[in-house]
Amino acid sequence: MKVIGFVASPRKGGNTEALVEEVLKGAFDAGAETKMFNLNKMDIYPCKACQYCKDNEGECAIDDDMQSIYKEIKEADAFILGSPVYMWQMSAQAKLFTDRLYAFYMTGFEEKYSKKDMVLIFSQNNPDENMYSKYFNYTKNMFNFLGYNVTDVLTSTENDVPGAVKNKENVMNKAIEIGRKLADL
Ligand SMILES: Cc1cc2nc3c(=O)[nH]c(=O)nc-3n(C[C@H](O)[C@H](O)[C@H](O)COP(=O)(O)O)c2cc1C
Repeated sequence: MKVIGFVASPRKGGNTEALVEEVLKGAFDAGAETKMFNLNKMDIYPCKACQYCKDNEGECAIDDDMQSIYKEIKEADAFILGSPVYMWQMSAQAKLFTDRLYAFYMTGFEEKYSKKDMVLIFSQNNPDENMYSKYFNYTKNMFNFLGYNVTDVLTSTENDVPGAVKNKENVMNKAIEIGRKLADL
C-alpha cells in the first residue's frame, strides 16, 4: 500500500503542509508506505494541449518534474492533494498539477493501473466553513469524473497563521482518521 501527498502551498510550515503530513501519518500508522511532495518546489509547466499523451498511452511530452510525479502516481494506491484556498479556488500550483493529469485522462490509464483513491484538503482563512463548499464539492466531482475515487474532502478555516491548524485538535484528528481509513481501503 503506497500513499503519496502533494502540498500545493508555497508556505513552508503552512497549514496545508501540516494537514497533508497528518493524513500521511495516519496512513503510515495503518501500514502504508508514504511520501510527500511540495509542488511549489518543483518545476511544473502548464499543459500545452499538444495531445501527445492521447497517442502515447498517457505519456506527457513535457520534460519537467511532472514526469517523476506521473511515475509516483502510477505506483501509488492513493494520493492526497492539499491546497490553500486562493481567490475562492485551489492555488495555481494545484491547478498546474491538476491540468497535467490530463495526460492520463482517456488513455486507458484507468484500466491499466488500479483505480486511485484520493483525498482533497483545503485550508482557508475565511471563518465560514460553508463559504466554498460548492467549489469543494465541484472539485471532488471533477476528480471522480477523471477516474479517481475521492474518499474524503478535509477542510479547515481561519488558518491565516502558518501552522495554526496544528492547534485544532478536531481537524488534526480528522486528518489522522482519514489517513488510516485511506490505508485500510
Ligand atoms: C493569494 C491568496 C489568496 C487567498 N484567497 C483566499 C480566499 O479566497 N479565501 C480564503 O478564505 N482565504 C484566502 N487566502 C488565505 C489562505 O487560504 C489561508 O491563509 C490558508 O490557510 C493558507 O494555507 P497555507 O498555510 O497552507 O499556506 C488567500 C491567501 C493568499 C496568499
